[in-house]
Amino acid sequence: MSIQEIKLKDLNAKEFIEEKAKEISSLVGSGAAINALSGGVDSSAVTMLGHKALGNRLKTYFINNGIMREGEPEKIVAMFEKLGVHVEVIDAQEQFFKALKGITDPEEKREAITQAFYKDVFGKLVRQSNAKYLLQGTILTDVDETVAGIKRQHNVFEQLGIDPQTTFGYKIIEPLVQLRKDGVRKVAEAAGLPKSIFNRMPFPGPALAARVIGEVTPEKIKIVRMATVIVEEELATSGAFQYMAILHNDRVTGMRDGKREFGLQMEIRCWDSIDARQAHPTKLSYETLIKLANRMTFEVPGVVSVTYNIASKPPSTMEAI
Ligand code: XMP
Repeated sequence: MSIQEIKLKDLNAKEFIEEKAKEISSLVGSGAAINALSGGVDSSAVTMLGHKALGNRLKTYFINNGIMREGEPEKIVAMFEKLGVHVEVIDAQEQFFKALKGITDPEEKREAITQAFYKDVFGKLVRQSNAKYLLQGTILTDVDETVAGIKRQHNVFEQLGIDPQTTFGYKIIEPLVQLRKDGVRKVAEAAGLPKSIFNRMPFPGPALAARVIGEVTPEKIKIVRMATVIVEEELATSGAFQYMAILHNDRVTGMRDGKREFGLQMEIRCWDSIDARQAHPTKLSYETLIKLANRMTFEVPGVVSVTYNIASKPPSTMEAI
């Protein structure tokens, strides 16, 4: 079944919200639904649509998978409470790290995260809550990239021939699947979300695991999380579409305090892009790059090498895995 795209210029956000809320209501009927909020613009917009349609018959969860950014669970939950949406935090850190243990292949990592998320964590929540539906914020670009075989987006099933009902035990509703990111931002704003959400920089479903090359361990996530804080602080005013730190797997020889240090390599990427389908490295000033390198090597334990990616997408992709 081909999906009918709604382009930004044709989108009336208020009407879209009304229509989708009606659709969700009629699909779910008098039953219950659940959804996972990550704080990204897609899942935030879906949370607002779902609550408009179902009120407290939608249970919203924040899955703390252990691979989110610094302080993310607390910040997002507090913000939604302010909007009158109660969010329950599920601590699933151990399950995710167990699922990722020993895996180095990028697509296998994505698959492990998908299985941990949809089967283990959500399967259990659905059984406990008696919900028959999961609402999620898949957008058209996720579908395109998965179908094209570029990256298996963790939230795309139908197009891969996977029936969530038989595989996971629930049905999935995707109210945003006709939109791209720009359309979702417009809907999020019209749904009353604050600018910090509707303008939020994209962040991938596999979270910081998409930024660790090689096996994902709690120790490596801690390192890339620290580096992410620095990149996000230093590049906040860059105007770029997205920026990130990537921890490499290979080590290189460095020196600290007169001694050899077989250290870590951190790569910085900063992208100019309109819709993430193509992207070019932002022309950051040399001063900015040096400041990033200094902070990375002094503030993040073990980092002795810092590089800036200068390749475009394609053939690069924005994330490293
Ligand atoms: P790539 O790396 O494919 O990224 O060039 C394009 C955009 O998509 C984001 N991204 C994801 N978003 N689930 C998501 O929700 C995913 O699995 C995923 N992988 C990449 C990425 O951050 C960028 O904005």
